[in-house]
Amino acid sequence: MNKKYVVANWKALPESWAEAQGILDSISEYFDASPSGNTSLIVCPPFVFIEEAAKLLDTSSLSRNAELGAQDIALSDQPGQTGEISGAMLEKLNVRYVIIGHSERRWKLGESDEVTNQKLKMTLQHNLTPIVCIGERTREGDYHKFITDQVAGTFAGLSADEIGKCLVTYEPVWAISTNPGAKPDTPADALEALTVIRPLVPDSLLLYGGSITQNNAHDFLSMPEFSGVLVGGASVRKEEFVEILRAAE
Ligand code: PGA
Repeated sequence: MNKKYVVANWKALPESWAEAQGILDSISEYFDASPSGNTSLIVCPPFVFIEEAAKLLDTSSLSRNAELGAQDIALSDQPGQTGEISGAMLEKLNVRYVIIGHSERRWKLGESDEVTNQKLKMTLQHNLTPIVCIGERTREGDYHKFITDQVAGTFAGLSADEIGKCLVTYEPVWAISTNPGAKPDTPADALEALTVIRPLVPDSLLLYGGSITQNNAHDFLSMPEFSGVLVGGASVRKEEFVEILRAAE
């Protein structure tokens, strides 16, 4: 099997560094016991834990399989952005990836395709790898057109080479576990969505996200069309997350 990416999007969890360390320790124990090297883990903690997580990754066996990602990036490196974290800061903390265009930022915080596009450009400018989330809010109506328009706005002005550097994650909004009535997509339906996405980003690796658990991780990770999964809720349930990593081997 080709190398698979597993992205752990912790969102606004856990509440303490002690708990965060517990999750990372479990992952470290797992990799120590089964070092096949097939999995590339990207841990995206909340900003408050990034510095500690970077130190831990640097000084433990996690460094063999895990890298650090951020959940967001400021629109620019200018200092006048209260509450924001710049790409320059992320680079200095050994962050390698940034989640861009997550639906919680698009729909709950009102970030437009233009804002997403600007953040994507900032990420590339800092030589960080964007994990770009794409996905429809509903399958009702012409969702192919929705995806096509979202991809066009998100990647506007980028060269084919730049788009090829992105990990593009198909993450249908209705499948995200925190949304009411959420249920995971099926591999067959996700493949149907890829018939629209793949031609638009021909050189990018594709991931799937949305209600990944230990029960369905293998279904998506064994698909040659997907190079990995983006995991939200289950990424902070440490026993379950280890099972998801096992499914990637
Ligand atoms: P979920 O979240 O795995 O809890 O559905 C995925 C995400 O929002 O990135």
